[in-house]
Amino acid sequence: MNYKCAKEVLGNVSSDNLLKEMRDVWNACVNEEYFLKPFSYEGFKNHMITNPHFDFDFVYLAYDEDKLVGYSIGIVRSGCKGNPNCSGYFNSICVLKEYRNQGIGNELLKMMEEGLKEDGHSAVYASYFLPSTYSWYIPNTDKHDHPCTPGIRVNSREYLFLLNNGYQPITFQHAFHLNLSDYVYPESINEILERNKKDGITIELYDKDKHSGLEEFYADVKAPDFEKCIRSNLELEHPYPFLVVSDNGKVKGWTGAFWNEESGRGHFDGIIISESLRGRGLGKALFASLAYYSKQNGAKFMTFYTGWDNHARYVYMGAGFKIAQTFAIMKKVLK
Ligand SMILES: CC(C)(COP(=O)(O)OP(=O)(O)OC[C@H]1O[C@@H](n2cnc3c(N)ncnc32)[C@H](O)[C@@H]1OP(=O)(O)O)[C@@H](O)C(=O)NCCC(=O)NCCS
Repeated sequence: MNYKCAKEVLGNVSSDNLLKEMRDVWNACVNEEYFLKPFSYEGFKNHMITNPHFDFDFVYLAYDEDKLVGYSIGIVRSGCKGNPNCSGYFNSICVLKEYRNQGIGNELLKMMEEGLKEDGHSAVYASYFLPSTYSWYIPNTDKHDHPCTPGIRVNSREYLFLLNNGYQPITFQHAFHLNLSDYVYPESINEILERNKKDGITIELYDKDKHSGLEEFYADVKAPDFEKCIRSNLELEHPYPFLVVSDNGKVKGWTGAFWNEESGRGHFDGIIISESLRGRGLGKALFASLAYYSKQNGAKFMTFYTGWDNHARYVYMGAGFKIAQTFAIMKKVLK
């Protein structure tokens, strides 16, 4: 077996051809089961090249003579190259089935770790970062998909491989799924809405002429990712509709903008309620309203993640969502 860093072969092979070979290995691996999605050549190339953090310097290859039989990809965020204060990231590793159990995966992983170490990084994470860009199918569904994986699929071959190579799970994310044709808006939500209405608290579609206090809401909930979602939606020429909890006209809760993806997935950014209004059933009511609107809007299913210990899981499970997959965020200290 011949092992090389991609930068060594790029003089002889064009990056297009190398990416084509890598995509063949990727597809052969993922087509073994119904989970990660295969790529077209163009799709794989775009996936790598358009990612500002992808760099062939951290791609390692295993050849049997001239045949590419496996690869590993490490990632260093752009701007972090050579910076010992930044961690490296594990992106992916694939070895063709007929070449497994010969130590090739271990060698490719070791090369990736050595490469990151030489660049000055003292830890490697298998987490949200680039792995999150691989989309996957919810098992036992008709192509219900989710656009990213937040970490390593628990109990997969890859998970056990990383565990056995010294990676530790540091936290978990649950992926939730519901086929919206099974969704029934619970009667009990109307009681919650009635109760809150008496205090002037309602759940409504956001209307800039009617609702105010978004800046105060951002400052109150301190959730920069959600703030970014709301702001970028409102900057669109035609913002997508979204729901808010209105406390006498002041925004005190939000659930992400809704639109349908091509696959039929009802998009979901997240849900948040100001602390002063938590525990009044509004989380449940807001989420039920979102699922209802998404279904009315033609969405076939919904998928999203949340941290394994986030209380929001009570809201999701209460609405009938099931955990379809758990992902581990893993870390290894490079010695
Ligand atoms: C998640 C969140 C929206 C829930 O809002 P809420 O209005 O307090 O929730 P509700 O009052 O509707 O409660 C819904 C269920 O969750 C349970 N729950 C909510 N917070 C809980 C907590 N801290 N501990 C235990 N259970 C909790 C409630 O008991 C209820 O279950 P029940 O109907 O079986 O009694 C709110 O906590 C929040 O904004 N969190 C921060 C943002 C976040 O993490 N969002 C999720 C990521 S997408």
